Amino acid sequence: MGKFQVIDHPLIQHKLTIIRDKDCGTKVFREVVGEIANLMAYEVSRDMPLEDIEIETPMTKSIQKTLTGKKVAIIPILRAGIGMVDGILELIPAAKVGHIGLFRDEETLEPHEYFIKLPEDIDNRQLFIVDPMLATGGSAVMAIDSLKKRGASNMKFVCLVAAPEGVKTLQDAHPDVDIYTAALDERLNEDGYIVPGLGDAGDRLFGTK
Ligand code: URA
Repeated sequence: MGKFQVIDHPLIQHKLTIIRDKDCGTKVFREVVGEIANLMAYEVSRDMPLEDIEIETPMTKSIQKTLTGKKVAIIPILRAGIGMVDGILELIPAAKVGHIGLFRDEETLEPHEYFIKLPEDIDNRQLFIVDPMLATGGSAVMAIDSLKKRGASNMKFVCLVAAPEGVKTLQDAHPDVDIYTAALDERLNEDGYIVPGLGDAGDRLFGTK
Protein backbone atom coordinates (compact mmCIF):
# COMPACT_ATOMS: atom_id res chain seq x y z
CA MET A 1 0.00 0.00 0.00
CA GLY A 2 1.25 3.49 -0.87
CA LYS A 3 1.88 6.10 1.76
CA PHE A 4 -1.00 8.17 3.17
CA GLN A 5 0.22 11.34 4.86
CA VAL A 6 -1.59 14.27 6.43
CA ILE A 7 0.90 17.13 6.28
CA ASP A 8 -0.11 18.81 9.51
CA HIS A 9 2.54 21.51 9.67
CA PRO A 10 1.26 24.49 11.74
CA LEU A 11 1.69 26.94 8.82
CA ILE A 12 -0.34 24.66 6.56
CA GLN A 13 -3.07 24.18 9.17
CA HIS A 14 -3.28 27.94 9.77
CA LYS A 15 -3.53 28.70 6.06
CA LEU A 16 -6.12 25.97 5.54
CA THR A 17 -8.33 27.58 8.19
CA ILE A 18 -8.12 30.87 6.27
CA ILE A 19 -9.44 29.32 3.06
CA ARG A 20 -12.08 27.18 4.79
CA ASP A 21 -13.76 30.38 6.04
CA LYS A 22 -16.76 31.16 3.82
CA ASP A 23 -15.90 34.87 3.97
CA CYS A 24 -12.45 34.37 2.41
CA GLY A 25 -12.63 36.10 -0.99
CA THR A 26 -11.27 34.90 -4.32
CA LYS A 27 -8.00 36.86 -4.20
CA VAL A 28 -6.93 35.61 -0.80
CA PHE A 29 -8.27 32.12 -1.51
CA ARG A 30 -6.14 31.84 -4.65
CA GLU A 31 -3.02 33.21 -2.96
CA VAL A 32 -3.32 30.96 0.06
CA VAL A 33 -4.02 27.81 -2.00
CA GLY A 34 -0.73 28.56 -3.78
CA GLU A 35 1.08 29.05 -0.49
CA ILE A 36 -0.23 25.75 0.90
CA ALA A 37 0.74 23.89 -2.28
CA ASN A 38 4.20 25.41 -2.00
CA LEU A 39 4.61 24.24 1.59
CA MET A 40 3.25 20.79 0.74
CA ALA A 41 5.70 20.43 -2.15
CA TYR A 42 8.52 20.61 0.36
CA GLU A 43 7.22 17.48 2.13
CA VAL A 44 6.02 15.68 -1.00
CA SER A 45 9.51 15.96 -2.50
CA ARG A 46 11.27 14.78 0.67
CA ASP A 47 12.22 11.38 -0.78
CA MET A 48 13.75 12.76 -3.98
CA PRO A 49 17.03 10.94 -4.52
CA LEU A 50 20.39 12.70 -4.34
CA GLU A 51 23.77 11.82 -5.78
CA ASP A 52 27.27 13.03 -5.07
CA ILE A 53 28.99 15.39 -7.47
CA GLU A 54 32.34 17.07 -7.30
CA ILE A 55 32.32 20.86 -7.37
CA GLU A 56 34.87 23.52 -6.64
CA THR A 57 34.00 26.04 -3.96
CA PRO A 58 36.12 29.22 -3.78
CA MET A 59 38.16 27.32 -1.17
CA THR A 60 38.60 23.76 -2.45
CA LYS A 61 37.31 20.84 -4.46
CA SER A 62 34.43 19.21 -2.61
CA ILE A 63 31.92 16.35 -2.97
CA GLN A 64 28.36 17.67 -2.54
CA LYS A 65 24.78 16.54 -3.11
CA THR A 66 22.64 17.19 -6.15
CA LEU A 67 19.20 15.94 -7.19
CA THR A 68 19.19 12.88 -9.39
CA GLY A 69 16.57 10.41 -10.54
CA LYS A 70 13.36 11.14 -12.36
CA LYS A 71 12.36 14.64 -13.36
CA VAL A 72 9.00 15.87 -12.10
CA ALA A 73 5.77 16.61 -13.95
CA ILE A 74 2.87 18.31 -12.20
CA ILE A 75 -0.54 17.16 -13.46
CA PRO A 76 -3.41 19.36 -12.29
CA ILE A 77 -6.90 17.94 -12.63
CA LEU A 78 -8.85 20.77 -14.27
CA ARG A 79 -9.95 23.08 -13.20
CA ALA A 80 -9.31 23.40 -9.48
CA GLY A 81 -5.94 21.65 -9.67
CA ILE A 82 -4.57 24.66 -11.57
CA GLY A 83 -4.63 26.61 -8.31
CA MET A 84 -1.89 24.38 -6.89
CA VAL A 85 0.54 24.43 -9.84
CA ASP A 86 2.41 27.72 -9.37
CA GLY A 87 3.10 27.07 -5.69
CA ILE A 88 4.77 23.76 -6.55
CA LEU A 89 6.63 25.23 -9.54
CA GLU A 90 8.21 27.79 -7.23
CA LEU A 91 10.05 24.94 -5.50
CA ILE A 92 10.53 22.72 -8.55
CA PRO A 93 10.85 25.22 -11.42
CA ALA A 94 12.12 22.65 -13.94
CA ALA A 95 8.95 20.55 -13.62
CA LYS A 96 6.79 20.15 -16.70
CA VAL A 97 3.04 20.56 -16.43
CA GLY A 98 0.43 18.28 -18.00
CA HIS A 99 -3.33 18.80 -17.80
CA ILE A 100 -6.25 16.44 -17.42
CA GLY A 101 -9.76 17.84 -17.77
CA LEU A 102 -12.48 15.99 -15.93
CA PHE A 103 -15.92 17.21 -15.08
CA ARG A 104 -18.27 15.72 -12.57
CA ASP A 105 -21.79 14.81 -13.64
CA GLU A 106 -23.79 16.67 -10.98
CA GLU A 107 -26.45 13.89 -10.88
CA THR A 108 -24.34 10.73 -10.85
CA LEU A 109 -21.17 12.39 -9.43
CA GLU A 110 -19.26 10.30 -12.04
CA PRO A 111 -16.23 11.97 -13.68
CA HIS A 112 -15.86 12.31 -17.47
CA GLU A 113 -12.57 13.07 -19.23
CA TYR A 114 -12.78 15.85 -21.81
CA PHE A 115 -9.14 16.95 -22.18
CA ILE A 116 -5.66 15.52 -21.75
CA LYS A 117 -2.30 17.01 -22.72
CA LEU A 118 0.85 15.60 -21.19
CA PRO A 119 4.62 15.92 -21.50
CA GLU A 120 5.88 13.29 -23.98
CA ASP A 121 8.07 11.52 -21.45
CA ILE A 122 5.58 10.97 -18.61
CA ASP A 123 6.69 7.33 -18.39
CA ASN A 124 10.06 8.66 -17.30
CA ARG A 125 8.88 11.27 -14.81
CA GLN A 126 7.78 11.41 -11.20
CA LEU A 127 4.21 12.74 -11.42
CA PHE A 128 2.53 14.94 -8.83
CA ILE A 129 -1.20 14.80 -9.59
CA VAL A 130 -2.85 17.75 -7.92
CA ASP A 131 -6.49 18.49 -7.08
CA PRO A 132 -7.47 20.46 -3.97
CA MET A 133 -10.34 18.14 -3.02
CA LEU A 134 -10.27 14.33 -2.77
CA ALA A 135 -14.01 13.82 -2.35
CA THR A 136 -15.53 10.62 -3.82
CA GLY A 137 -12.16 9.74 -5.33
CA GLY A 138 -13.76 9.20 -8.75
CA SER A 139 -11.79 11.91 -10.56
CA ALA A 140 -8.49 10.92 -8.98
CA VAL A 141 -8.99 7.26 -9.90
CA MET A 142 -9.95 8.16 -13.47
CA ALA A 143 -7.02 10.57 -13.88
CA ILE A 144 -4.56 7.96 -12.64
CA ASP A 145 -6.15 5.23 -14.84
CA SER A 146 -5.65 7.54 -17.78
CA LEU A 147 -2.02 8.32 -16.87
CA LYS A 148 -1.20 4.63 -16.34
CA LYS A 149 -2.68 3.82 -19.76
CA ARG A 150 -0.19 6.30 -21.22
CA GLY A 151 2.76 4.71 -19.46
CA ALA A 152 3.03 6.61 -16.17
CA SER A 153 4.04 4.52 -13.19
CA ASN A 154 5.54 6.80 -10.60
CA MET A 155 2.79 8.94 -9.08
CA LYS A 156 1.90 10.91 -5.98
CA PHE A 157 -1.54 12.41 -5.45
CA VAL A 158 -1.53 15.76 -3.64
CA CYS A 159 -4.69 17.43 -2.31
CA LEU A 160 -5.62 19.97 0.35
CA VAL A 161 -8.69 18.33 1.86
CA ALA A 162 -9.60 14.64 1.68
CA ALA A 163 -12.70 12.71 2.69
CA PRO A 164 -12.23 9.21 4.15
CA GLU A 165 -14.40 7.80 1.33
CA GLY A 166 -12.12 9.29 -1.32
CA VAL A 167 -8.94 8.07 0.34
CA LYS A 168 -10.32 4.53 0.50
CA THR A 169 -11.53 4.58 -3.11
CA LEU A 170 -8.16 5.84 -4.35
CA GLN A 171 -6.15 3.42 -2.20
CA ASP A 172 -8.30 0.46 -3.34
CA ALA A 173 -7.97 1.38 -7.03
CA HIS A 174 -4.32 2.48 -7.00
CA PRO A 175 -2.50 1.10 -3.96
CA ASP A 176 0.84 2.05 -5.54
CA VAL A 177 0.08 5.80 -5.44
CA ASP A 178 1.12 7.83 -2.39
CA ILE A 179 -1.50 10.28 -1.11
CA TYR A 180 -0.63 13.57 0.59
CA THR A 181 -3.27 15.87 2.05
CA ALA A 182 -3.30 18.90 4.34
CA ALA A 183 -6.43 17.63 6.14
CA LEU A 184 -8.55 14.51 6.46
CA ASP A 185 -12.11 15.73 7.00
CA GLU A 186 -15.17 14.00 8.48
CA ARG A 187 -17.26 12.89 5.53
CA LEU A 188 -19.01 13.57 2.24
CA ASN A 189 -22.52 14.99 2.22
CA GLU A 190 -25.31 13.70 -0.04
CA ASP A 191 -24.19 16.06 -2.84
CA GLY A 192 -20.62 14.75 -2.78
CA TYR A 193 -19.16 17.78 -1.00
CA ILE A 194 -16.62 17.36 1.77
CA VAL A 195 -17.78 18.36 5.28
CA PRO A 196 -16.60 20.62 6.86
CA GLY A 197 -14.48 21.11 3.70
CA LEU A 198 -14.21 24.49 2.00
CA GLY A 199 -17.02 24.36 -0.56
CA ASP A 200 -16.41 24.17 -4.29
CA ALA A 201 -12.67 24.72 -4.72
CA GLY A 202 -12.97 25.60 -8.43
CA ASP A 203 -15.66 28.22 -7.86
CA ARG A 204 -13.78 29.71 -4.94
CA LEU A 205 -10.49 29.84 -6.86
CA PHE A 206 -11.93 31.41 -9.98
CA GLY A 207 -14.80 33.43 -8.53
CA THR A 208 -17.48 31.55 -10.45
CA LYS A 209 -20.79 30.19 -9.21
N1 URA B 1 -15.10 19.26 -5.05
C1 URA B 1 -15.03 20.44 -4.40
O1 URA B 1 -14.62 21.45 -4.98
N2 URA B 1 -15.43 20.51 -3.13
C2 URA B 1 -15.90 19.43 -2.46
O2 URA B 1 -16.24 19.55 -1.29
C3 URA B 1 -15.96 18.19 -3.15
C4 URA B 1 -15.56 18.14 -4.44
